[in-house]
Amino acid sequence: MVNGEKMIPRPLRWAMIGGGRLSQVGYKHRSGALRDNTAYRLVAGAFDIDAERGRDFGVNLGLDPSRCYNDYKQLIHAESQRDDGVEVVTVATPNGTHYEITRAALEAGLHVICEKPLVFTSAQAQEIKALAEEKKRIVGVTYGFSGHPLLMQMRAMIARGDIGEVRMVELQYTHGFSANAGAEKSSDAAKWRVDPKISGPSFVLGDISTHTYYISQLVLPQLRLKELLCDRQSFIPSRAPLEDNALVLMHYHGGAVGRMWASAVNTGSMDSQSIRVIGSKASLEWGDYNPGELKYQIQGQPYQVMHHGMPYLDESALEYERLGALHTEGLAESWANIYLQCAIAINAKQTGDTVTLKKLIYPDINAGLEGVRWIENCVRSANNGSSWVNFE
Ligand SMILES: NC(=O)c1ccc[n+]([C@@H]2O[C@H](COP(=O)([O-])OP(=O)(O)OC[C@H]3O[C@@H](n4cnc5c(N)ncnc54)[C@H](O)[C@@H]3O)[C@@H](O)[C@H]2O)c1
Repeated sequence: MVNGEKMIPRPLRWAMIGGGRLSQVGYKHRSGALRDNTAYRLVAGAFDIDAERGRDFGVNLGLDPSRCYNDYKQLIHAESQRDDGVEVVTVATPNGTHYEITRAALEAGLHVICEKPLVFTSAQAQEIKALAEEKKRIVGVTYGFSGHPLLMQMRAMIARGDIGEVRMVELQYTHGFSANAGAEKSSDAAKWRVDPKISGPSFVLGDISTHTYYISQLVLPQLRLKELLCDRQSFIPSRAPLEDNALVLMHYHGGAVGRMWASAVNTGSMDSQSIRVIGSKASLEWGDYNPGELKYQIQGQPYQVMHHGMPYLDESALEYERLGALHTEGLAESWANIYLQCAIAINAKQTGDTVTLKKLIYPDINAGLEGVRWIENCVRSANNGSSWVNFE
């Protein structure tokens, strides 16, 4: 069980780029990273596209005003001159800036925790991966719910054969917040998501389905995608070519099949994200709308619900537990686990501890690259008359 005690010798000196006062995701990074007072210390930031507002925000977070910078270039330069400069930066800016900021941070020898989708193309992601390897630095990607203990339970149960041979994988990440064209006027965040220059080659595929795609890789590390067929729509025509709805069929190596439904126009839905893995003996199902429960359904038997924090869970799930059974658990704990695993990875990289690095399970650079490959292949299939394409 995680209880906040230190897992690395001292907190990492940490800065944020983006994630300012009006951002959707900034607070989740801070609450994830700082939940355990022992893993990170927020010491600097370039929080906002508006430098003044960013500085004011940083000061209100309690930072030294001289370490609240106008932009990421100034931050990287000034911090690299200090003996106590930052060691790791989070990139929580809109998608179109991830590549240049992550690249610049790695070039300066910083570890990076970046938002999804990591970059626009898999060629860029490969370049970032090679640079991280060359600089001996960690890149983590914040697929928010992927640090949930019950996903570790799912992984352990599938690995030990509890559901038999995997036959089908059913993935969904949908909401209805963009059901109307007016959504784009509600905030900057809604506006840039449908602008290909900032969002990239997709809207919902990159914005939400990458989360669930990573979760499927987390619980099914042995399953590799062979080919996919993506059918995408822009129900609000002004969003074209970016999709607000996508249906993807998947064939895995070895015969298993899957499907993903990603949508921002699932009107009225508040269900969000779910994964169901169907095996020859039983099925497992988890959704982030009720994250403390994992459904285990054995054919011919009454179905079971496994609760987070209970002693019957696998050791790997209990290691991620933060609150204990009966205490409502969810997204904040998952983010904190992702940040903690990233801190342990950064510390292991700094000390050359390859054994720990091999053992750790968290959304790393490969997970970032995979997310970008997923978007690329889906867009290629959709643009090719929704035909089957080999997963490249
Ligand atoms: N992991 C998740 O669950 C999750 C949730 C929401 C968003 N996201 C991702 O997080 C990123 C940001 O999304 P958002 O919804 O918070 O966007 P947003 O538009 O709400 O906020 C972006 C923030 O970054 C700042 N910013 C923009 N350009 C900047 C720059 N060049 N330098 C410094 N600051 C800059 C803005 O001022 C703002 O504070 C996106 O990549 C998005 O896909 C992830």
